[in-house]
Amino acid sequence: MARINDNFLKLKAGYLFPEIGRRVGAYADANPDKAASLIKCGIGDVTEPLPAAVREAIHTAVDELGNRDTFRGYGPEQGYDFLREAIVENCYADLNISANDIFISDGSKCDTGNILDIFGKGNKIAVTDPVYPVYVDTNVMIGNTGEADEEGRYEGLVYLPCTAENDFVPAIPDEKVDIIYLCYPNNPSGASATREQLTAWVTYAKENDAIILYDAAYEAFIQDDDVPRSIYEIEGAHECALEFRSFSKNGGFTGIRCAYITIPETVTGVSATGERISIKQLWARRTSTKFNGASYPIQRGAEAIFSDAGKAQVVALVDHYMGNAKLLREACTEIGLKVFGGENAPYVWVACPEGLTSWDMFDKMLTEANVVITPGSGFGAAGEGYFRISAFNSRENVKEVCKRLKAYL
Ligand code: MLT
Repeated sequence: MARINDNFLKLKAGYLFPEIGRRVGAYADANPDKAASLIKCGIGDVTEPLPAAVREAIHTAVDELGNRDTFRGYGPEQGYDFLREAIVENCYADLNISANDIFISDGSKCDTGNILDIFGKGNKIAVTDPVYPVYVDTNVMIGNTGEADEEGRYEGLVYLPCTAENDFVPAIPDEKVDIIYLCYPNNPSGASATREQLTAWVTYAKENDAIILYDAAYEAFIQDDDVPRSIYEIEGAHECALEFRSFSKNGGFTGIRCAYITIPETVTGVSATGERISIKQLWARRTSTKFNGASYPIQRGAEAIFSDAGKAQVVALVDHYMGNAKLLREACTEIGLKVFGGENAPYVWVACPEGLTSWDMFDKMLTEANVVITPGSGFGAAGEGYFRISAFNSRENVKEVCKRLKAYL
């Protein structure tokens, strides 16, 4: 008899996006005449082609692998030096991060889940509400929570409400926690965190000997020069924060997968015997055992993002998606909805019209406007009353969504 991990049975519904996919699939099957004009603004998946510089680099790398003299087998588990050095030079100049602090992976979704491998039991873990569901579900899977209550909040997690009143950046808790997940620019609310707000969190983490897991997957979409792009711009973060970054959304890598975690040597946790242990050393050990590195051609593609041509092409992609966000914001505002986000992030977060829940809004948009959005409650109890529109789409589709929003709301 093989015992299963019973923690999986605590998980509420299916993972949010497959669940939305299932509902949309059922609707499309029942309404074949509408399927062709259905516009998906649910999951934040890129729509525009891979930048030319990336494609060329991948082609070249594949050709290298086709030649005995330049063929490569297993790569370094932590990632190739050429990519880690390019990241340091381009993303962390003057921030006291070295190539040795960077761990290349095949995605931030896996990274934010896998990181729990190196933390022990009994940590008090704080998540924002609403939240990227991966942080919560992976803690449930590993046994860091009890059961969920009626609103879907798991016993044992500390939920930090993010509301319009606090600009979707959580207040510092009055209790002590050990691990805090922060994501800025934020998924799902599209909010960004100021330097002062991040400084308060770093100060809290240092005072409480806590670790911040900082998800900066949407950093490339920041438009405002005052908004920090990295947690390491904040003094003291090198002692208490890990940063997750991704090529998915800026470089269009959702289908080809490449991301990284940054872990300075000075971030430590405590062993059962009270010894200070380097988080980086644990993650290096875990990586070399469970991972054989991201694919060589894809790492070459990621490196090309930092070439002159690649940088210009990424700016064009970001401008495209942020132009979409602006149109979506304007359309929602015009019809009298309260709109948040979409200024430093590719997500527009909208208060539902009076009397409609998040899932009512999902159904209304699907069946009347033939548009898929994401219900706010799918990101947590505090997301109830909101919906998220992803700006990842073609301009043509976004203009059509704006038209339909105006027609149906
Ligand atoms: C989202 O829509 O929230 C994102 O696409 C999820 C992800 O990046 O995994």
